[in-house]
Amino acid sequence: MTIQSIAVLTSGGDSQGMNAAVRAVVRSGLYHGLKVYGVQKGYYGLIHEEIQEMDLRSVGDILQRGGTILGTARCKEMMTPEGQQLAADNLRKRGIDALVVIGGDGSYQGANKLSKLGIRTMGLPGTIDNDISFTDYTIGFDTAVTVAVDAINKLRDTMSSHERASVVEVMGRHCGDIALLAGLASGAESILVPEVPFDLKEVADRMRDSFKSGKRHSIIILAEGVGHGEDIAQQITEYNGQDIRVTVLGHVQRGGAPTPSDRVLASRLGDFAVRKLLEGESGKACGIINGQLVTTDIDLVVNTKKPFKMDLYELALRLSQ
Ligand code: ADP
Ligand code: F6P
Repeated sequence: MTIQSIAVLTSGGDSQGMNAAVRAVVRSGLYHGLKVYGVQKGYYGLIHEEIQEMDLRSVGDILQRGGTILGTARCKEMMTPEGQQLAADNLRKRGIDALVVIGGDGSYQGANKLSKLGIRTMGLPGTIDNDISFTDYTIGFDTAVTVAVDAINKLRDTMSSHERASVVEVMGRHCGDIALLAGLASGAESILVPEVPFDLKEVADRMRDSFKSGKRHSIIILAEGVGHGEDIAQQITEYNGQDIRVTVLGHVQRGGAPTPSDRVLASRLGDFAVRKLLEGESGKACGIINGQLVTTDIDLVVNTKKPFKMDLYELALRLSQ
């Protein structure tokens, strides 16, 4: 049976480009003659029936906006078999044939559960963390890195004036990709990520040596998955006596207009998800690998850890000496 209607929701932590993805799903769906529904507040809206039909104008003027017009939530009810069954029943009751879930790893787990209950699902990687396997990039990651690099540039100005050291804590949950790319793009002396073991004494020595070699600043990028910036800074100070300032970038990394790269990725993936559902695929996650759009079984995606780009990490260290 070919599908005649789809619903789309955004779930988990928002990310820049979610709106662009919603727009692409809605407009591609309408282009292909489908009825399209928008679900408010992620799985909460599915369970509590906050579902509206969307038209071309419902997604006007959102391509360039951060956040998500559908709203998002972390929904505990969806973690229970009862909540999952209710979500599936509500889709069936309304005659909705398929669901596009835009979110991160947790949201994919929810989509996987719905898929196992017989709902046709398609996942789109919407998270700043870039922690989803079988895609090189997630929607929002490029913007989050851009925000982080912009902030680090500013910090570098004032750190250089005062010949100070700085620890900058970035988001990413258990994934070090934001720290890695932001660190490489801003010439950080050290990048501390959960994927690579490190010795804080060596980090402290490196900082001391970099000042001795004539540098006017030293920047350490810390992925939040490693620990708190204040704790790390205090331990480094105990080793080298350096006066270190700590900046936690926090949720600003999730805000602001998506970069063109995120808008393009979201537009391509949103349209691709609809086309794949129309071709009969289901229980999949969409991604981009080496520039090519791909689908992968969502069960495999949620059960596979993304490999860390060790080559980029080593490059960053070599170049920041
Ligand atoms: P993200 O999708 O950004 O990783 P979360 O991990 O908070 O964010 O997950 C978003 C939502 O997905 C959760 O609030 C919950 O509703 C749903 N979810 C997460 N894990 C599961 C699971 N194991 N089973 C069913 N639903 C889940
Ligand atoms: O998954 C996105 C993310 O921003 C993570 O980087 C971070 O750990 C978490 O969400 C923060 O969650 P909250 O918005 O609930 O504070």
